[in-house]
Amino acid sequence: MALREIRIDDDPILRKKSRVVSEINDRILTLLEDMEETMIHANGIGLAAPQVGVLRRVVTIDVGEGIMKIINPEILEVRGEVIEIEGCLSLPGISGTVERPEWVKLKYLNENGEEVIIEGTDLLARAICHEVDHLDGILYTDKVIEYCTDEDENEEEII
Ligand code: CO
Repeated sequence: MALREIRIDDDPILRKKSRVVSEINDRILTLLEDMEETMIHANGIGLAAPQVGVLRRVVTIDVGEGIMKIINPEILEVRGEVIEIEGCLSLPGISGTVERPEWVKLKYLNENGEEVIIEGTDLLARAICHEVDHLDGILYTDKVIEYCTDEDENEEEII
């Protein structure tokens, strides 16, 4: 495994759309391992491949329930609305409130190429939506309701 450089701020790759993975080969498996290591090292709970410069629909998430390696995610259904503070590994030093679904149903391929359907609530739902947005070149700042002041800074989840 190896750490990869996290693209930040105005890096144009963060605004590009990622392509579907058609074959889960060694490059994709290595990418997933490196993303896991990079995400943990940066104290994030989610990371999307474009954040490490790879325009593929690949995501890692760990909200404290173990690592999830997600390929070709598709949000099937959403319910509810929650407004919480969120930050992003690609936008260091800022955070803000964003409205996200309270519940999502997600379909994806795991690293063995098996189709998985999960339901996630609260922080997991938020992380899923934040990362899928990254795959479409969308950043949370596009949806922010209000930026936080310094006093709130430690409360955000860095996705
Ligand atoms: Co992010």
